[in-house]
Amino acid sequence: MNEGNSMTDLTTMMVSEAMVSKQTSVCGLAPPNMSRREFIKGVIASGAVASAGVFMLAGCSDNSSSGNVAVPATGNFERMITLNINGRDRVVDVLPNETLAMTLRYKLGLTGTKLGCDRGECGACTININDVQQYSCSTLTHTARGRAITTVEGLQGVNGELHTIQQAFIDELGPQCGFCTPGQIMSTVSLLKSNPDPTREEARMALSGNLCRCGAYDHYLNSVMRAAGEV
Ligand code: FES
Ligand code: FES
Repeated sequence: MNEGNSMTDLTTMMVSEAMVSKQTSVCGLAPPNMSRREFIKGVIASGAVASAGVFMLAGCSDNSSSGNVAVPATGNFERMITLNINGRDRVVDVLPNETLAMTLRYKLGLTGTKLGCDRGECGACTININDVQQYSCSTLTHTARGRAITTVEGLQGVNGELHTIQQAFIDELGPQCGFCTPGQIMSTVSLLKSNPDPTREEARMALSGNLCRCGAYDHYLNSVMRAAGEV
């Protein structure tokens, strides 16, 4: 994934740095000579390794004659599943009660999807499933099998260029801190897929599940209306 100089990258960095700053100040875990970016990448990587380790240990307890068939730690529940994300099939080890937001961010490194409330209230975690906006913090990953998942990273063009909707958000100065922006954009993508020529009120309703603590709502609505004229 090449986030390059996209707005997604900028947003991700800002939020990641804020989160790591908070984590390191509370936990004091990051070595003093490690950059914040290196630290958060390490956290994501260690999560993937720990997950894989659990699966491998389960596999070691397998009694089959072949000896190479991994047994999920939770009985017969299939944990290694394939998800279609941004047009690609991704194989990932998923716990039975794992949310899609956790899988995307901490197993697959797709940190453009933000976690705000983590309980279906703020919309920061909005992604699209089969072109319909969904809160990924309130979606069990296993329920997304066989469906097309789109995150904000999936909007970029083949050469990393911004999607028309992302550009419209920039042109209308939509984001302030940027934390809610990926969710706002994904709701807009879903809206314009089903209704390419919305009224401002329809746009307001479509984005009503995306809260913005910076209060940039009018800028976001301007962005949606601009995007609707260009998509
Ligand atoms: S993080 Fe999912 S709705 Fe707030
Ligand atoms: S731009 Fe800051 S929360 Fe929306």
